[in-house]
Amino acid sequence: HILYETAKDAISQYPHANGIVLTYPNYYGHAVDLKPIIEEAHQHDIPVLVDEAHGAHFVLGHPFPQSSLKAGADVVVQSAHKTLPAMTMGSYLHMNSRRINRDRLTYYLSVLQSSSPSYPIMASLDIARAYAEDIMKTNRTADIEKELINMREVFSQMNGAEIVEPADAGIQQDPLKLSVRSAYGHSGFELKSIFEANGIHPELADERQVLLVLPLEGKNKPAPELIRTIGKEIKDTAVQHDHPAGIGIPSEKVTAVPYRKSKLSAFKKESVPFAEAAGRISAEPVIPYPPGIPLIMAGERITKETISLLTRLVDLNVHIQGSNQLKQKQLTVYIEEEKS
Ligand SMILES: Cc1ncc(COP(=O)(O)O)c(C=O)c1O
Repeated sequence: HILYETAKDAISQYPHANGIVLTYPNYYGHAVDLKPIIEEAHQHDIPVLVDEAHGAHFVLGHPFPQSSLKAGADVVVQSAHKTLPAMTMGSYLHMNSRRINRDRLTYYLSVLQSSSPSYPIMASLDIARAYAEDIMKTNRTADIEKELINMREVFSQMNGAEIVEPADAGIQQDPLKLSVRSAYGHSGFELKSIFEANGIHPELADERQVLLVLPLEGKNKPAPELIRTIGKEIKDTAVQHDHPAGIGIPSEKVTAVPYRKSKLSAFKKESVPFAEAAGRISAEPVIPYPPGIPLIMAGERITKETISLLTRLVDLNVHIQGSNQLKQKQLTVYIEEEKS
């Protein structure tokens, strides 16, 4: 997630930016206080576009974090299919401001989207909307909160596992998401195998933890016996890839793009081994998925820290969105002299 200080820093470096795109909440359900960030952007008349893919249910209000629409975002997209009962692919696009030119947006939608939309998916979107409305009308959010607290409690009883809370102060945890870590140092990938062997399917695993998505109104809690069995298996499973203590996302908060796109397109590209990529400008985005947070953006200068993290992820066989040559530890970079 992007904290207020980081956003303010980026805005002061680029006060004439055409827009800010934020992901809120992140995949782990961590929600920053968006309002001050949006206010800062609006002071510079910069529109804020929010990818609220994981927060369609925030419209329900407490106990969920504030919806970005309430926080004043200009345009918001939500994957209704992720946390509301809509069919896969079903998403909402909200316009929430006059800073956005509606006609242009409509034009680009018509360019990018199919001219044969799926009526079943659209109907399911309306059902999901009605479902959320009904929860609010019949005041079921208090029951939902109770069930989610109970569910969290069940997992907190698991020996050998710890529930992870957001590290930064001021970050709210979406109660629909639950991150669990091994107390013995297993990676999230190892933990995921143990959960799956026992019929619990995490949404994702990363180096350090698994992420569980809890059901909005599900009452099917895992039996205490199952929780004990999983706890015992965690204890009895030898640690193969202990989760690294120090390696996280590289610490640089605001990175500049050294060249404008028009200049970059005049450069030739070449493939280089990871070992030679630090200091070069990447010609491709590198996105470990999940959680889908770009490690490298195209046009950005590659750092040593990024390369060591990327090497580790490739060694761990993590799925990475990017070119196929990443598996061979090769990256496409720009040659910083114009084509002759
Ligand atoms: C942050 C984020 N944005 C967007 C998407 C894509 O959304 P959709 O699957 O609705 O196209 C995902 C994942 O699927 C995501 O994690």
